[in-house]
Amino acid sequence: MAVVAVLLCLLLLSLSLAALLRRSDGRGPRWGTLHLLHPQGALHLSRLARRHGPVLRLRMGGRDVLVPSSVGTIREALVRHWGDWLGRPTSYLGSLVSRGGRDLALGGPCPGWRRQRGAVRGALARAGGRLGPLLWLQGRELCEELRSHGEAPLDPFEVFTFHTCSTIARLLFGDLVPPPRELRAFSHCLGELLQVWGCSSVQVLDLLPLLRALPNPGLRKLLRLVQHRDTFVEAQIQRHQVCPSPPPDTVLGTLLGHNFGARGGGLSPPRLHMALVDLFIGGTETTAAALGWAVAFLLHRPELQARLRAELEGVQGPPGPGDMGRLPLLQATISETLRLRPPAPLALPHCALRHTSLGGLPVVAGTVLVPNLLAAQQDPDIWQHPEVFLPERFLAPGTPSRSLLPFGCGARSCPGEGLARAELFVFLGLILREFRLEPGPGGLPGLRGSPGTVLRCPPFRLRMVPCQPPGSP
Ligand code: HEM
Repeated sequence: MAVVAVLLCLLLLSLSLAALLRRSDGRGPRWGTLHLLHPQGALHLSRLARRHGPVLRLRMGGRDVLVPSSVGTIREALVRHWGDWLGRPTSYLGSLVSRGGRDLALGGPCPGWRRQRGAVRGALARAGGRLGPLLWLQGRELCEELRSHGEAPLDPFEVFTFHTCSTIARLLFGDLVPPPRELRAFSHCLGELLQVWGCSSVQVLDLLPLLRALPNPGLRKLLRLVQHRDTFVEAQIQRHQVCPSPPPDTVLGTLLGHNFGARGGGLSPPRLHMALVDLFIGGTETTAAALGWAVAFLLHRPELQARLRAELEGVQGPPGPGDMGRLPLLQATISETLRLRPPAPLALPHCALRHTSLGGLPVVAGTVLVPNLLAAQQDPDIWQHPEVFLPERFLAPGTPSRSLLPFGCGARSCPGEGLARAELFVFLGLILREFRLEPGPGGLPGLRGSPGTVLRCPPFRLRMVPCQPPGSP
């Protein structure tokens, strides 16, 4: 253990020096690896971008890395030159957690990946039509659980994570959802998995292959969590396959090719397995983090809570995905939360499949692109008072909504955007109808993100004070 610690210290020291010794080749500074491992990740890179221009250049593990940090440069790469940037960089850790890159999010273009992508996007689009009742049911259960705490202070994040995970499980498996205890353990496992994967002591294995020969407790834990994840997912697929009359119209049914008229089927077993993992990983922590941020911001703005409640009281019945036009302030609150604190602030890395260019710089094939969505969404040239939480800005005419990119853009943008937006709208609407949000004993939550793959609000506790009898229409 001591040897590993000493080696890691030496390594970090040398990386720090490499990072400090920025190089220039006449095309502006090129930064060292440590900037990508910085605990404040996207925020730190945003500060660098503000000083050094909208395309940062870094070196990481022998590769060039570009970090576009404005809407213009991100769109130039991912929309205008989308075909050039369709790849994902391969990595040691990525391969370990994705059955050799056989998943949608980490895989690169090949016939199997294209089939998997079409099947997942098609299945989510088909499920979109029946989201309303499913989200009301899940949202009611979420509110029941919050209500069960009485007015005692609670940390909402675990509750949100369980219910976003449960939404994906209901979409995938219909009535064949696993029992709550099993699902709760699984959602906990996903959270831990992302956390351990994001740790610098584990991330460093991607950069320095030599370290892979040494024992690494973080890596051991990661592999244990991957095993838990895979056992759970495998068991659900088998349960569905042996069921004599599986529930109709589930996302898993579509992926298996069981649902009439749906595109799907023909996925190899590892690709089917990883498609389910993609939906759970993509749709659990991200949506829960956004809900957590919305609640945190609203604790700072009690008068906005009151206006939102008045807006919700003005429409009949609980808010559904079809009510977005009728509840503009709720919709604006969600947009502003996603603008100021995008849950995936550095999106996912892309990889150039061929030589291309960005912002006038020539780019060689194999270059990695890390879009800094956080920096782009706080660009003072586009947004007034960019660092202030102001949902009202989305109610004014001429809001630059096209500059909002929390789900990325182009061919690899998030396939769960519609689901996530509907879920945030219904869950936040139901919570605000039922409860007044008040700070817990620790006072108002901090609003700086905590480090990790997903940008989460630092832990906080709040009181949920009921302001409506349960389940009222
Ligand atoms: C607030 C919630 C969410 C946010 C902010 C978010 C954001 C993102 C972002 C920024 C990307 C990367 C885009 C890129 O590569 O440039 C992404 C990819 C992805 N997301 Fe989401 N996401 C959310 C919810 C969901 C949900 C609900 C699902 C599915 C149920 C999902 C599934 C995926 C998948 C599968 C990918 C990989 C797509 C690909 O590689 O082609 N996400 N998401």
